[in-house]
Amino acid sequence: MGRLSGVSGMTDQRRSTHAWLTTPLESGTAAGFGVYLHVPFCHHRCGYCDFATEAVGGLAADEREALMQRYVRALEADLAAQAAVGELPTVTSVFIGGGTPTLLPPDELARLVRAVSRELDVADGVEITVECNPETADEELFGVLAEAGVDRLSMGAQSFDPAVLGVLDRLHRPERTAEAVRLARAAGIPRIGLDLIYGTPGEDDASWRASLAAVLTIGVDHVSAYALGVHANTPLGRAVAAGLVPPPDDDVQRERFDEARELLRGAGFVHYEVANFARSDALRSRHNVLYWRHGDYLGVGVGAHAHRDGRRWWTTRSTSRYLDAAEASVADRDARDDMGRMRTVTEEEQLDVDARALERLMLGLRLVEGLHPFDVPPLAVEALDDAVRLGLITMSCGRLQATESGWYLLDETVRRLAA
Ligand SMILES: C[S@@+](CC[C@H](N)C(=O)[O-])C[C@H]1O[C@@H](n2cnc3c(N)ncnc32)[C@H](O)[C@@H]1O
Ligand code: SF4
Repeated sequence: MGRLSGVSGMTDQRRSTHAWLTTPLESGTAAGFGVYLHVPFCHHRCGYCDFATEAVGGLAADEREALMQRYVRALEADLAAQAAVGELPTVTSVFIGGGTPTLLPPDELARLVRAVSRELDVADGVEITVECNPETADEELFGVLAEAGVDRLSMGAQSFDPAVLGVLDRLHRPERTAEAVRLARAAGIPRIGLDLIYGTPGEDDASWRASLAAVLTIGVDHVSAYALGVHANTPLGRAVAAGLVPPPDDDVQRERFDEARELLRGAGFVHYEVANFARSDALRSRHNVLYWRHGDYLGVGVGAHAHRDGRRWWTTRSTSRYLDAAEASVADRDARDDMGRMRTVTEEEQLDVDARALERLMLGLRLVEGLHPFDVPPLAVEALDDAVRLGLITMSCGRLQATESGWYLLDETVRRLAA
């Protein structure tokens, strides 16, 4: 079987020998270096969500505050231990995600931001994003975050239809999102993004269109539009499995996506990743682009994932296990490995060259920019021709890019390419 010239049998050794010729500018360490900090706390767990979260709405105020303070101290200790081993690259993006980071007292959240620049070398103009739920927004919070250097908010609007917000178990009313964006801007946070979910049971064409129109009226810099994902381990997943709630309809999801794409592009947004739109290239999420370019990043906190040079690791999703382990490892250095990771609660895997290349293909095809052929696994010419003929990918100007159909069928596209 013929192989695409130039990528067959490419090894890491050859890549480095001809690095100036073959390494695309954006991949690996050139993609930057990120730090992800996870804050698991939420008021309650939304029925569709399978992120690592800890519902604290039922705790008394003093109990909640003590737990959060303990967690922030654990994150600081964990970050310090991971930063203390060897030289790490300069940090180009920080992402504090959740959970609901903005449930933390503002000063605790600001402490986390400061901990990153205390422990690591941070680039001038570093991007610092905090995830925010609209109902947690207030002037004081945003003022403290702006002062600490947070320059980007990613806010979970999800929908502007009260009925859909109800189905999603959200706590805020639609008008709260607009108010939260206004407060954040007034506090001086320069970049604001809103997340939307489409395909929720009870949503119709008109309510989706109205949500998109509301986003445009509010005027934000970034929009993420996600198809509702049904996860088996969630109340929504169980309701769908029991036949109580219909599963999202693929055709409807596609229509909603097409509508979002058309409206947002018509309003001047750049569609840069399957689910992501930015008002300009400069307003893309640098941190998320780093993930899709298969770059390197630290992960700190419950359920956080990290990646360096093909080695991936992730921490327990249990807040209590994480806290116990972090506190024990402050007392006992042997509880850490040579990369500062807590032995008892961290799992890891080493990707071999082929697995890395395959992952790079899977992630890179999500980006509109696609990827460079030298960054993908050795691909059979027949498989490439086939994928082009089926309208799943295009090859132009030295880039391999998924088409819209290729995005819908991404697993299938990658399976065909790697066959
Ligand atoms: C992990 S949440 C954290 C942000 C914040 N707690 C919130 O919910 O607004 C990040 C984003 O993931 C998206 N998300 C979470 N679960 C999802 C699901 N099952 N399907 C689609 N999108 C989902 C939501 O749009 C959400 O804003
Ligand atoms: S969607 Fe957001 S608020 Fe809801 S449980 Fe998940 S992380 Fe928490």
